[in-house]
Amino acid sequence: MSNILEFNEQNLTIAATTIKKGGLVAFPTETVYGLGADSYNAKAVAQIFAAKGRPTFNPLISHIAEIDMLKELAVPDARAYALAKEFWPGPLTFILPRRTSNSALDLVCAGLPNISVRMPNHPIALALIKQSGTPIAAPSANRSQTISPTTAQHVADSLGDNVDVILDGGACKVGVESTIIDLTTKDVVILRAGGLSKENLEEFLGEKVLLSHGNPELPTSPGQMLKHYAPKLSTRINVAPTDRQSDEFYIGFGDMDCDLNLSPTGDTTEAAANLFAYMHLAETQTTYPKIAIAPIPNNGLGLAINDRIRRASYK
Ligand code: TXA
Ligand code: MG
Repeated sequence: MSNILEFNEQNLTIAATTIKKGGLVAFPTETVYGLGADSYNAKAVAQIFAAKGRPTFNPLISHIAEIDMLKELAVPDARAYALAKEFWPGPLTFILPRRTSNSALDLVCAGLPNISVRMPNHPIALALIKQSGTPIAAPSANRSQTISPTTAQHVADSLGDNVDVILDGGACKVGVESTIIDLTTKDVVILRAGGLSKENLEEFLGEKVLLSHGNPELPTSPGQMLKHYAPKLSTRINVAPTDRQSDEFYIGFGDMDCDLNLSPTGDTTEAAANLFAYMHLAETQTTYPKIAIAPIPNNGLGLAINDRIRRASYK
């Protein structure tokens, strides 16, 4: 029996009740599907790690539905509020000092002094958070080290019975995870490139935003683990159409011959929206034993795409 529920008032109530009781609900956001639990319920949060098969307790993003909820979890400053007003709801996650008074947040923060928070731009996610009456902690709704889910079916295929309810909201529009920025330092630092571009952030802030490279095997943002976004088949990147091998399923970009084209017009936003779905298709097709991906420019959402496919190609 499938635990995928179409979105309606009745199923929203079932989902919100599941969160309140300490269960797990997968829900759509504009970036990818999240595997949600009550941020304040450590037992429920622990279930997330179990369901994903995450080897360690990485900190999780808490999702909120109103800017007012931010100060319950974190200690936001004027810069954080300005960014929230400009980009929330949207694919941008803040790392801020956490409210230490709340020990219920220990597991969600993996014991760190900082917490990550975002307001997703999706009516189902916002409705679920509001009706649950609590911030919802949610990593991407997939088994650890597999490709992030952008449809309800991807979630069901990856997590099966390990999730109580999957709310179906169709395909995710942005298609790559949120941009994570560290707001605990003087300069704003991108810890993970994602659905909001560096250019957009810099334009709003009127200053350079730094890009963290860190040590990917020992990350401060564990999503930086090198083999994080791995498809099951061996994957090469930056492969020009002329270098494609006969045993490779070829994912193209721009005007070219290929098996699947991320964006025939060369648009990085469109390519981001297609990326994970095409990687899912590439790893489940049976004609070719390997995958190759065309070069993607580094501007706009290309930065996030190149980050994800570099990890996908890591051996
Ligand atoms: O778009 C997204 O961000 C999706 C949707 C569901 O919102 N969520 C997502 O979560 O991608 P996840 O867990 O797959 O990635 C969150 C990343 C992880 O790399 C985690 O280590 C990092 O954020 N992170 C979370 N809290 C942190 C903290 N307090 N300090 C440093 N890094 C943190
Ligand atoms: Mg993830």
